[in-house]
Amino acid sequence: MDTSKTKMLPPLEAAVKKYQFDIQVKNVSRLCHPKPIVTVNGMFPGPTIYVKEGDRVLINVTNHVQYNMSIHWHGLKQFRNGWADGPAYITQCPIKTGNSYTYDFNVTDQRGTLWWHAHILWLRATVYGAIVIMPKNGTSFPFPQPYSETNILLGEWWNTDVEGNVKQANKLGLPPKMSDAHTINGKPGPLFPCSEKYTYAMEVELGKTYLLRIINAALDDELFFAIAGHNMTVVEIDAVYTKPFTTQALLIAPGQTTNVLVKADRTPGRYFMATRAFMDVPISVDNKTATAILQYKGIPNSIMPVMPQLPAPNDTEFALNYSKRLRSLNTPQFPANVPLKVDRHLFFTIGLGKNPCLTCQNGTKLTASLNNITFVMPKTGLLQAHYFNIKGVFTTDFPDRPPTAFNYTGAPLTANLGTSLGTRLSRVAFNTTVELVLQDTNLLTVESHPFHLHGYNFFVVGTGIGNFDPAKDPAKFNLVDPPERNTVGVSTGGWTAIRFRANNPGVWFMHCHLELHTMWGLKMAFVVDNGKSPEESVLPPPSDLPQC
Ligand code: C2O
Repeated sequence: MDTSKTKMLPPLEAAVKKYQFDIQVKNVSRLCHPKPIVTVNGMFPGPTIYVKEGDRVLINVTNHVQYNMSIHWHGLKQFRNGWADGPAYITQCPIKTGNSYTYDFNVTDQRGTLWWHAHILWLRATVYGAIVIMPKNGTSFPFPQPYSETNILLGEWWNTDVEGNVKQANKLGLPPKMSDAHTINGKPGPLFPCSEKYTYAMEVELGKTYLLRIINAALDDELFFAIAGHNMTVVEIDAVYTKPFTTQALLIAPGQTTNVLVKADRTPGRYFMATRAFMDVPISVDNKTATAILQYKGIPNSIMPVMPQLPAPNDTEFALNYSKRLRSLNTPQFPANVPLKVDRHLFFTIGLGKNPCLTCQNGTKLTASLNNITFVMPKTGLLQAHYFNIKGVFTTDFPDRPPTAFNYTGAPLTANLGTSLGTRLSRVAFNTTVELVLQDTNLLTVESHPFHLHGYNFFVVGTGIGNFDPAKDPAKFNLVDPPERNTVGVSTGGWTAIRFRANNPGVWFMHCHLELHTMWGLKMAFVVDNGKSPEESVLPPPSDLPQC
């Protein structure tokens, strides 16, 4: 046999992975409450997208429901290809009833867990699923190969129609009613009525190690997650490897993903996995615990599972300490390329507000703002307006800092809460290094906010409580191995500094990933200019791009 042949293998071609997403209504029942929900292919949660780093992915979405649809591939960078990013009216017009659109993108330089969700109205309540990016051929995980893996999608369930609740609430200018249960893989677990058969169970074998891909797909709740009797080793967040560390519980904000290794090394039995909301200010929140079961092989279902200890719902200290332990792996193979020199310094304040509302009960409605601007959704896609130079859709005068400086995190400010309205974008030159400090404020109340930036990963170089001090705080930044991610929590009454290099031209949404706050206007977009060459410019739009 000629063994030299084995050395002559052609380089492995990237594959093309194709998916069909049919948006359809399906009747589902939880907590003894049946209702029709919007799904992908009748599944809740929706199908998992499996890809390998380097693959091209084609996902054809056909909309069979009464709502307009648009799907976002949360965390995929979509280099030069915002057309495939998905937030409605930002990078595309929505897909109308009866129409289709093919999201066509490459997955490059990312590996791990991301997810997809509807990015219009509150439809992501039921329209979401996992994205699993396997390391490219010839490479492996920077941790021991797990025996097998499972997706853990955390979500929320409402007994009533979510869009109906939201419409009702907006009429009144108030928040919609909160969810009736949290869910794990679409199921609340046996602590809820009519839920015995709606329990997610994961079977494990003694001595084996498992990879759990945990995704917070909840709309409005940061969540704790723990497994009774078992530690978890965090190895990846938002599809970026981390320095491994072991913890009894983890905190995950809406939009974030966390991969953990779990070793089945306890007395064979049944152990609850549990999730519950974290809320450290007096704002009411769905405080119920969802459960699933880690079940050792051969153990009968009649055995009552053990409950894990979750941090207290208001355990700020746990939250801060947990976040501090997150660090990029930062190896030669997976370096943390933190921008060391900053071209552009941005400082955005996060606030709640009250604006006049003629139809609302008491004449005002709750709003939210960045630098006191409540973002107004356009009627057409911003990326189209940018690419085709359509005037009058947006302005590029989003301010680099708030209109007035004040004691952001002092006593609660309850007067003069009006915000200014506008579709104002921040324009950034190609390849600029940006440092953005997100500062929570006590306008109405302080609160923790998970911020998500589309089109980029960023490095979380610093965080703190109170007001950011530009003279002192930067000296304490971690510029070596800060966590790299696409969604970061800004602590209650605190600040978070992120850095990224604006090397992805296009229009990129940035918003609080609490749907309530996004809806109230806690969002803006960056318009990143093209570079000099065509390789640094936005691709032409696909021919099937939906029209408004
Ligand atoms: Cu996961 Cu713009 O959102």
